[in-house]
Amino acid sequence: MKNVLTHVAGLPVPELARAYGTPAFIYDQAVVEQRISELKQFPVIRYAQKASSNLAILALMRRNGVAVDAVSAGEIYRALQVGYTGEGNPPGIVYTADVFDYDAMAMVKQHRIPVNAGSPDMITQLGEFYPGADVTLRINPGFGHGHSRKTNTGGEFSKHGIWHTEIEDCLRLGKEAGVTIHGLHMHIGSGTDFDHLATVCDAMVKAASRVGAQLEVISAGGGLPIPYHKDQSRIDINAYFGLWQRAARAIEDIVGHPVTLEVEPGRYLVAESCTLLTQIRAIKSMGENRFYLVDAGFDTLVRPSMYGSYHEISIAAADGRDITAASDVIVGGPLCESGDVFTQEEGGVVVSRHLPEAKVGDYLVLHDAGAYGASMSSNYNSRKLAPEILVHDGVPEVIRERQTFEHMLQFERIPERLRG
Ligand code: LLP
Repeated sequence: MKNVLTHVAGLPVPELARAYGTPAFIYDQAVVEQRISELKQFPVIRYAQKASSNLAILALMRRNGVAVDAVSAGEIYRALQVGYTGEGNPPGIVYTADVFDYDAMAMVKQHRIPVNAGSPDMITQLGEFYPGADVTLRINPGFGHGHSRKTNTGGEFSKHGIWHTEIEDCLRLGKEAGVTIHGLHMHIGSGTDFDHLATVCDAMVKAASRVGAQLEVISAGGGLPIPYHKDQSRIDINAYFGLWQRAARAIEDIVGHPVTLEVEPGRYLVAESCTLLTQIRAIKSMGENRFYLVDAGFDTLVRPSMYGSYHEISIAAADGRDITAASDVIVGGPLCESGDVFTQEEGGVVVSRHLPEAKVGDYLVLHDAGAYGASMSSNYNSRKLAPEILVHDGVPEVIRERQTFEHMLQFERIPERLRG
């Protein structure tokens, strides 16, 4: 029956649940490697680690020849831990942001990390603390795109990037600051379509012509979509690459020498590799509506609550019985907040889903949770962060342990006067 499963990453669901408890993020390494290989046409794949920054995932990327993007000092720190450096061509790590905080400044300077600057002030600041740095400009071409308003990263209402009319000003600032502006980057938003992409590529060529001969690298950013709905088709990577390659060639003609083409996906590389395994803890009715309540909430996977994102859901019988019936249900979590519902649309509209008939104790699996799943989880309602498990060739290994209560409270302090 549709949406019934017995195995995740090749392993029986009840076995995984017994071994690691629920909720748990289960990654299948083979899927990540498959996605990397699909993008191998690109001279440089730079993983946007915000999607899933677990050290084991980063180590897996590195082992497969993938460079990494870091958007904070913490992400630089993670990349360094698995052996990436800011050196090399292409550089292992690039720092992409619209601001430097003091931590990031220190990291960039100490480890000589190239910077993808999203505001003119960063260029001036960089000149002060790290003259000679390599810089790419993250350009906002004046329009955007995204799967939700919250993930749209271009246009006048976006805080991201350098406004497209300010390229010459930035080149001048770069000269004054003594940093080398050698590249352009355009990340327009998650959920690209091809007509739109052609417009982005044109904007990149135009921007490149204004930079001229000093241009050495262009980055297509991330935003490659994945089929969150089972009936959606998969992006045509050849067509995607083709458009960007054509833009790169046009730019090479303009600047008179080869340029390196980078792509910077997060979601595409990891989303489909991971399922969030939960257990149904209660089934109840509210008037006409039936609810499955599971032991993960938006503390564990925030995308549905935050963007109205759709994740496919399957049921695995705890007792191995055959499930033959289905009905419309709403799937919610344990948090003390009514927005803690996995089946909702943008704007918080709660909807039901036709799902297999389950019993309390059965497992409910949320698919495609590898990107912006674990990396966006929180301790809201004082719930422990869920563990992450990586399965390779049928062997599961813990890559993040379930958090403990002690760990959750370790940085909190009670002033002496309030004790006892
Ligand atoms: N490069 C830059 C500069 C970005 O800002 C992003 C995502 C990416 C690459 C990777 O985008 P991707 O390939 O993963 O779509 N939390 C949201 C997505 C936020 C994306 C932020 N920037 C979600 O759960 O859909």
